[in-house]
Amino acid sequence: MLEIINEKINEQEKIKILQNLQEVCSQCTNCELSKTRSNVVFSDGNPIAKIMLIGEAPGQNEDIRGVPFVGRAGQLLDKFLEEAGILRKKDLYICNTVKCRPPENRIPTQAEKAACKVYLDSQISIVRPLVILLCGMTAVNSMIETKLAISKIRGQWFNGPFDSKMMPIFHPSYLLRNHSNEEGSPRYFMQKDLEKVVQYIKTC
Ligand code: URA
Repeated sequence: MLEIINEKINEQEKIKILQNLQEVCSQCTNCELSKTRSNVVFSDGNPIAKIMLIGEAPGQNEDIRGVPFVGRAGQLLDKFLEEAGILRKKDLYICNTVKCRPPENRIPTQAEKAACKVYLDSQISIVRPLVILLCGMTAVNSMIETKLAISKIRGQWFNGPFDSKMMPIFHPSYLLRNHSNEEGSPRYFMQKDLEKVVQYIKTC
């Protein structure tokens, strides 16, 4: 059940195939993270949403609950999304580049990212979002070849798989360390980027 789905599938099929994939993923031992995880963190939100958000990897709260972005960073992310008019449960399918928590929340290794890519690619091919938000550099590097910093490429559109548009955005953990909302600040740009996404979705 790890093949890439190349044909458009209806909503019920989508949900069923994602459930099967999640089941497979929950048993995964493709990398060392399987030895230390409490839960595989597969996804949250709406599998038929037009927007998909890809983060880095689960942290401690996510590992305990088995749900992505439920800690402090996730709560801040929800706030930014809501302010832009994006409801997490309805308008978004949310997942991570790596589905298991790296110890001490370190950045996932190349081997861990490679071991998990099959799940991410399958999720994208099943959900077929119009927009893919690449939240932070780990997500950016898994989908775009670039050496540029996120501050240089955030808010820009890149062509993605299955005719989607991808946009790098700041990671909420970075925004937790940067409190200013002033014009030109990371929080300011996060809001602008999400507003741009909403405007784009309205034209589709
Ligand atoms: N950071 C991420 O990138 N993903 C999560 O699920 C939580 C924190």
